[in-house]
This record gives sequence, C-alpha cells and structure tokens, in this order.
Amino acid sequence: MLIARSIPELRAALAGRRPAFVPTMGNLHEGHLSLVRQARPLGDTTVVSIFVNRLQFLPHEDFDSYPRTWDADCAKLQATGCDVLFAPRETDLYPEPQTFTVHPDPQLADLLEGQFRPGFFIGVATVVMKLFSCVFGANAGGTAVFGRKDYQQLMVIRQMVRQFALPIDVVAGDTSRAPDGLALSSRNAYLSPQERQEAVALSQALQQLSERWAAAQAAGTLQAANLEQQALDMLRARGWLPDYLTVRRRQDLQPATPADAPGTLVALGAARLGATRLIDNREF
Ligand code: PAF
Repeated sequence: MLIARSIPELRAALAGRRPAFVPTMGNLHEGHLSLVRQARPLGDTTVVSIFVNRLQFLPHEDFDSYPRTWDADCAKLQATGCDVLFAPRETDLYPEPQTFTVHPDPQLADLLEGQFRPGFFIGVATVVMKLFSCVFGANAGGTAVFGRKDYQQLMVIRQMVRQFALPIDVVAGDTSRAPDGLALSSRNAYLSPQERQEAVALSQALQQLSERWAAAQAAGTLQAANLEQQALDMLRARGWLPDYLTVRRRQDLQPATPADAPGTLVALGAARLGATRLIDNREF
C-alpha cells in the first residue's frame, strides 16, 4: 500500500488510473472496511483518504478529541486490499485559509443534520470536492463510495456531483451493524459500557417508528406528528436527548405524508446519549 502525504504524490500515483475512492476521517471500523471491499472491483486502484476535516466541525464539537488511530488504520487498510492511502497533513490540503467553499442547496442541507449542525454540509461538500480534485484530477474520473449511514451526506454529495457534472459515479454502501443492531460509527468509541448497551435503542426507535408508520398508513389512520412524538418521548424516557426522529421522503428528505408510497420513505434520527451524538436511519 502506497501512502501519499501530499497532492503531487497522490496525483503521480494515480495518473491514468481509474480510482475507486473511499473518503474517511480515520478511526476505521468494519463499516469503513466494507466500503473499501465494495470499492475494490469498481476501479483499477483502490484509494482511501484519512483526513479529519476541521471545516465540518462546529467550534464546540469534537475536532480535537476525534479519535486518531493511524497505526491501526494503516494495518486494517493494508489487510483489506487498499492500494493507495491518501493522508494529507492539514497544511497540504488547506495551505491557506479555505475561503472558496461549496454551499449545498439549503433545501437539502439546512434541514435535519444541517439544522442541528449549521455549516456542517458546507464543510463536508468543500472537503469532498477538494478530495475529488486530488483523487480524480489526474485521470478521467472514477467511482466514490459513501455509506448510507450518513444518509443526508450521501444525498448532498450525489447532488453536488450531478450539478457540477463531475465524472464520478457515486455508489452507496449499506450500513454495517453490530450484532445487536447498533450502526457502526467511529463515535461509538466514546460510549461507556453502559451507554454502549443502551445505544441500540436509537436504531430500535427508528425501526419501531417505520413499522408503526407503515401499519397506520395501511390502516388509513396515519398521524405523522403523533408517531414522531411517541418515538421522541420513548428515547427521552430512556435518558436520551434527541435532536430529531422523523420520517422523510427518500427523494428529497422533505416530510413524508400519507400519500407517499411505502418503499419511498426513510426514518432518520439523531440523538445524544451522554456526551455522544449518534445518527442512524432505516429505509422502508
Ligand atoms: O463521512 C465522513 O467520514 C466525512 O464526512 C467525509 C465524507 C470523509 C468528509 O470529511
């Protein structure tokens, strides 16, 4: 596995190649590795980036404490068949203040995550555009794989690629889950043993919300606000601080209505358990 620390090194390694690219912020777990395995047959060179992107953290968030696990990450990527690891230093990716930024459509980016983490998707879109330029700038395009766990992020990136006509196929990877159903996330590392046991309640709440929604819709008794409120109350009663638990249309993340057909919806949630904020979603 070649480790490229700078943009020129990366471009030299990828000239004329057709990369399959998985961007990450490191602290790799099985969820990331399954994206890497999914990427491998989709290009002639599998590229993973590790970069903790300051631009997508709010001042009070966990940029400084975000887990950085370089040696373990390298070993995992090597064992998973990554060809090129792009790990730029902050001064390589942002040698001057990044005053040019990518502003996603507020109709998509200012709701849900964007409502609770203002500016988050500007930071994400800006770094992903820059990583795309680094990875695909020396070739005729390729494929990038993003996890469905970050559902809204995947939609923002797809829209960005479409609207800028970037020569990149965006492929979605399924969410990897622990045996009890908890979605794998780097931030799970922050959970105490007791919190880890409780953490599955978020995915259970979304599962229950989607099942109740589908049943009420079939019975013609759907009251969206009531069902969402019940899900919020259930998590609050267990000691969580939920930001949102809601059913949306998959196509644009606007609130779902009784007219929206089953199979076109997604239940999304974000909630804080102690000091850890977790997100998850369930399509149905
Ligand atoms: O999903 C992530 O880990 C990050 O948001 C990404 C896409 C690597 C951009 O920093």
